Amino acid sequence: MMQRLSHRLLIYHPDAKIYEGILSKKLPGLKIQSATRPKEALDFAKKAEIILAWQIPDEVLKRAKPLKWFSSTGAGNEDLVKHPHLPETVLLTKATVYGEMMAEYVFAYLLYFSRNIAKHMRDQRKKVWDQIRPLRMRGKVLGILGLGSVGKEIAKRGKQFGMNVLGIKRVPEPVENVDRVFGPGDLRNMIPLVDYLINVLPLTPETYHILGEKELSLMKEGAFLFSIGRGKTIDEKALKKVLQTKKIQAVLDVFEKEPLSSKSELWDLRNVIITPHISGINLPEEICEEFVRNFKRWAKGEPLANLVDREKGY
Ligand code: OXD
Repeated sequence: MMQRLSHRLLIYHPDAKIYEGILSKKLPGLKIQSATRPKEALDFAKKAEIILAWQIPDEVLKRAKPLKWFSSTGAGNEDLVKHPHLPETVLLTKATVYGEMMAEYVFAYLLYFSRNIAKHMRDQRKKVWDQIRPLRMRGKVLGILGLGSVGKEIAKRGKQFGMNVLGIKRVPEPVENVDRVFGPGDLRNMIPLVDYLINVLPLTPETYHILGEKELSLMKEGAFLFSIGRGKTIDEKALKKVLQTKKIQAVLDVFEKEPLSSKSELWDLRNVIITPHISGINLPEEICEEFVRNFKRWAKGEPLANLVDREKGY
């Protein structure tokens, strides 16, 4: 097996120091430079063969001529797949650690609504004893758009709650914990069946605005939309219109433009919950564990796990 001897890692990230602290202990042979600003990265970039980052300035990437592996700390890498300073010869890997965390987010809100948590808290403050029935999860239809590392974790938990799990996958094939897998052409057939529509699609030219007015209008009355992948997969204007006119509810963590403008009317809609892109937030410990496993493969000259397919875009 080929041994790669020179290992220089540039970490470019707002939490770069935390990453460096963890990785320098776990991989003591590695020469690491951590940077939060271009000037701390420019010189080292000229020698680094590995970069660990997500959003990295062009001026840094442009200098990274010896780069062989870009290990992204993000799950969605739409800006990197076709980046002019990241040639196809550079291996691009993604983080796959976000699934559990994002599934926890989805079920936190699902249970919040089904168990009437807000009402019972209000009642408590008024000392009111009102035994309303909760909604059951069992038998509800969970529809997941995107059955990658995140969609699969959501499906697993849906099954544990006794839900009927449907999903859309680019190439429809059986997926564990999913009762029925549809192809993208069946999106409009699946949406009306669903009580909870969870959108975790990556952003690609095919998924841009894949949920428009027509699709969103097909949602059942009382159904919930969760948007936790990429905001641009939903036509936000159409979403606003449908939310204003139809009795659906939405839990939105991602938006076409982030941060969401304070002028957006979405903030004020009573049937909308807004969170600031936190359903899967970067946790250095978990990202580093995954990086270390991959680095060990790299050092032995073995194929890397979690490679991004540049053609597909994720
Ligand atoms: C990601 C994200 O893709 O945070 O990692 O959105």
